[in-house]
Amino acid sequence: MSPASGAPQRRTLIAGNWKMNGRRADGLALAEDLARRAAGSAAGQLACDLLICPPTTLLIPLGEALAGSPIALGGQDCHWAEKGAHTGDVSAAMLADAGCRFVIVGHSERRADHGETDAAVRDKARAALAAGLTAIICLGEIEAARERGETLAVVEGQLNDSLPEQASAANTVIAYEPVWAIGSGRTPTVEEIARVHGHLRRKLQDRMSDGDRVRILYGGSVKAANAAEILAIDEVDGALIGGASLKADEFWAIAQSCG
Ligand code: 13P
Repeated sequence: MSPASGAPQRRTLIAGNWKMNGRRADGLALAEDLARRAAGSAAGQLACDLLICPPTTLLIPLGEALAGSPIALGGQDCHWAEKGAHTGDVSAAMLADAGCRFVIVGHSERRADHGETDAAVRDKARAALAAGLTAIICLGEIEAARERGETLAVVEGQLNDSLPEQASAANTVIAYEPVWAIGSGRTPTVEEIARVHGHLRRKLQDRMSDGDRVRILYGGSVKAANAAEILAIDEVDGALIGGASLKADEFWAIAQSCG
């Protein structure tokens, strides 16, 4: 949200995580549609930063389709190693070479599907920074932890252990994504989101000299219908969007909610 006077400026980031969706034809059509809308918006002056994170197979064609557009490109994961014998993986340098400026690390689906630990996430984020990418580090509690009242403790532990020493506001974004809210159509209340983001902000300030400038995104069932309310919450500096980022009208309407 827009900061009160004296508060640090944090430009809103609206990021689409396409997950394992999209073949060349539909991925290109969606990216080209968004690029056209961005070019058509008041001399390309967007009120927020826009990012799309397609599957790895689409990075190169989408990088070409988005060349000259203000929409940035990101990967959905990277390996912690620079290169080598890691079948099926992609390095941060390869993502940068494909035109990415960002990479998501530690998404709860990767933590669940691939057993990624906080330590692995921290190593991936460190590799991303070394390759010149901005790491979007994902945190979030499962429903059982929420019901036990452990949300703040869980996200604080994940933040402590997933953030590399080299993190700064220039190269790191945090995404708070309650696992139970992802793809479920359910979201925390405004007060709950404010409480978690406020807690993460204080921890970032304790840990980093520029912690007040790190963007903290909310993710989990963000849509055009709830985006304005969520983006207006204190310490919410943008959104990480799954399902709704696959529809140009929805994603664009969310982007319009930020200013
Ligand atoms: P949904 O927007 O589909 O709930 O997914 C959120 C998410 O996981 C983004 O990374």
